[in-house]
Amino acid sequence: MQLPAPRGPITDRLFAELARPPHVFGPPPVGACDAEDDAQLALFVCYELHYQGFDGVDDRWEWNPSVLALRERLEAWFEGWLARRVPRPPAPPPREVPRALAALVAADDGPSLSAYLRSRGDAAQFREFVIHRSIYQLKEADPHTWGIPRLLGRPKAALVEIQSDEYGGGRPERMHAELFRATMRGLGLDDSYGAYLGGVPGVTLAISNVMSLFGLHRHHRGALLGHLAAFEMTSSLPNRRYSQGLRRLGGDADARRYYDEHVQADAVHEQIAAHDMCGAFAAEHPGLTGDILYGAACALTLDRLFAEHLLNRWREGRTSLWQAEWRADAEVTVR
Ligand SMILES: [Fe+2]
Ligand SMILES: [Fe+2]
Repeated sequence: MQLPAPRGPITDRLFAELARPPHVFGPPPVGACDAEDDAQLALFVCYELHYQGFDGVDDRWEWNPSVLALRERLEAWFEGWLARRVPRPPAPPPREVPRALAALVAADDGPSLSAYLRSRGDAAQFREFVIHRSIYQLKEADPHTWGIPRLLGRPKAALVEIQSDEYGGGRPERMHAELFRATMRGLGLDDSYGAYLGGVPGVTLAISNVMSLFGLHRHHRGALLGHLAAFEMTSSLPNRRYSQGLRRLGGDADARRYYDEHVQADAVHEQIAAHDMCGAFAAEHPGLTGDILYGAACALTLDRLFAEHLLNRWREGRTSLWQAEWRADAEVTVR
């Protein structure tokens, strides 16, 4: 993956430093920055050093103290950003956690991106949607995997069971990230990891960043599990609609397999996540039930902000991508 173009003073400075061999540098100021796209991209790049890294960026930057210092400031900014947008749900008693998660999901009244794409979205809009989702879905499940060594016993077994499915149960061609690559190819998109990083706005990056934030900090492990539970509990029905939308637009079975797979898999995963994973974790850590619910609430809020962004832009006849010229309606072909 290539470093994308910088979006403001933070990424401008960070990317210039990363292009050189690892060294100590004074982090650029974050506090004064109100450019969300710049801060989200900088945070995403700091996190990505723990995943696949970047072409031309030395792998040893991963644990460089200057990068970590910048990341800490960006995380403090992002946690404040989340706190302003996500009300903290009341902490339920441990045995009520699965029910409280279900109630939180049921109360979510954000606009339905999947309903729009099932019946009305055009091929160019579906393609944009897939471009946004590629930022996470080409590394699907990786951020929650950070949670495995942070758990013991039942919740650990439950998380591993979910992740094993996400990673294809030993069959690389069944990995969800690989199924998603087939979706991208079916839409004539570049299926290589991170190909569209430069094309997505801050709200899309925030969806990935919140998972890495929760995954890379042990004290957020409750939120990480709640986040995964909310993901699984809001997946089955929307994925059925995405598949129907893609079929309406001419997408073949290979292109739709990612969505079809999730209709079944996540109906199972949501039970494992809510009961075996979050329920068991809550019983062991009664003081963290509020964190579980907060993680779920963060997932739901970010998904709502994402859906609003896409639907609002499309209603205005504009692209939802970062660069307007990325939307090329005329050239879109769905195979
Ligand atoms: Fe998946
Ligand atoms: Fe799943």
